Amino acid sequence: MAPSQKTPDPAADDVASGGGVGPSRGGPRPRVWAFGGGKGGVGKSVVAANVAVSMALQGRRVVLVDGDLGGANLDTLLGCERPTATLSAFFGREITRLEDLAGPTAIPNLTLVAGDGDALGAANPAHAQKQKLIRHLRMLPCDLVVVDLGAGTSFNTLDLYLAADVGVCVTTSESTSLQNCFSFIKTASLREQEQRDAAARKAGATVTPPTAAASGLTLRPTSLVVNRSLPSEARRITNLLHDLAGRFLGRGVRLTASLSDDPAVARSIRAGRPVCVGEPNSSFAHDIDTLARELWRPSPVAHEGPRTGINEEIDHDGVRLHVQTEDLGAPQCAVRTQVFRTDGSVVFTRRTAWEDAFFAKLAAAPADRVRFHHVAIVRALRAGRVEPLRRSA
Ligand SMILES: Nc1ncnc2c1ncn2[C@@H]1O[C@H](COP(=O)(O)OP(=O)(O)O)[C@@H](O)[C@H]1O
Ligand SMILES: [Mg+2]
Repeated sequence: MAPSQKTPDPAADDVASGGGVGPSRGGPRPRVWAFGGGKGGVGKSVVAANVAVSMALQGRRVVLVDGDLGGANLDTLLGCERPTATLSAFFGREITRLEDLAGPTAIPNLTLVAGDGDALGAANPAHAQKQKLIRHLRMLPCDLVVVDLGAGTSFNTLDLYLAADVGVCVTTSESTSLQNCFSFIKTASLREQEQRDAAARKAGATVTPPTAAASGLTLRPTSLVVNRSLPSEARRITNLLHDLAGRFLGRGVRLTASLSDDPAVARSIRAGRPVCVGEPNSSFAHDIDTLARELWRPSPVAHEGPRTGINEEIDHDGVRLHVQTEDLGAPQCAVRTQVFRTDGSVVFTRRTAWEDAFFAKLAAAPADRVRFHHVAIVRALRAGRVEPLRRSA
């Protein structure tokens, strides 16, 4: 679409797709955090469970979901009964609302949706069932959904990871764990790029090569948690992964937390009480609280890639959106902002030529074009001036 010559507002004239945002039921949507990573045994379940507990103790209504569809065990970690109905009842349509699966735990504000440790048939849900699960996660009546994912890079695991507002990759500092972690980030990045391209094509947008790896850090950075490590070691590992992922995958890696190797963890599992409840003064419990607060904190204004991209996550009427702006370079000679839902679908695309009045009016230096474009779209989103995101009421 040709940019408007009169209105120097890239959001005033949009190319939209998708219609409506989020599920049909009212109320603010919960945030969704998913904990994944390549290798079994690195601490995904322990970390996910304790982050959920920590947030619940801070007064948030939290649903912890056992998304390790083949090896569910969160009830053991929480020391509670496994709810009688598990995800297999949801996949089998015996239970239609996910919230009806959420069973109580000993911790106030925290409920558990149990996985299918025993129901192997349900460990491999069909695509439609998985999409339904993702939709229903976002409709749960709570503040936060924490999903514990299985090991490996199956599509089930990756799609749950990518559908989350924040996908946290958990690793330890062991070399085998790091190898698995990098291959998880790599496979997730390829799948994410694939989903975005497919969604953009469906919306009629031109998907232009080169790929993300060649066009700057345009995928949102991976949030890394290095478990059982000292902070200095965690920083070294993050730098290593950041360099590799930036060079080969077009994505940054940032350290969200390092967590101490702490005997309190094993003691707590034996006692059937989460560390944050049983040993709240332990260093692991302290690190988990710091991680939970860090994840809950509003996202930084923008994560700017070193070359041309800006990625930002915003909350719009309780819906998490990812806003991505990039300079398309020659021969397109334009800047493009796209707004994605967390499932990767594009709800808004705006492309503005370098010579458009918008840039001239702001006297934007070439280096500032991306920022000006990005900020204008984000402002328009927040002001409700972006057509497909307007409330119909
Ligand atoms: N920070 C830690 N300190 C000490 N032991 C830990 C720590 N994190 C995890 N563990 C141990 O590692 C084991 C595996 O953790 P788990 O969360 O089940 O891994 P995953 O879900 O990645 O397979 C736990 O049983 C626990 O004993
Ligand atoms: Mg696990």
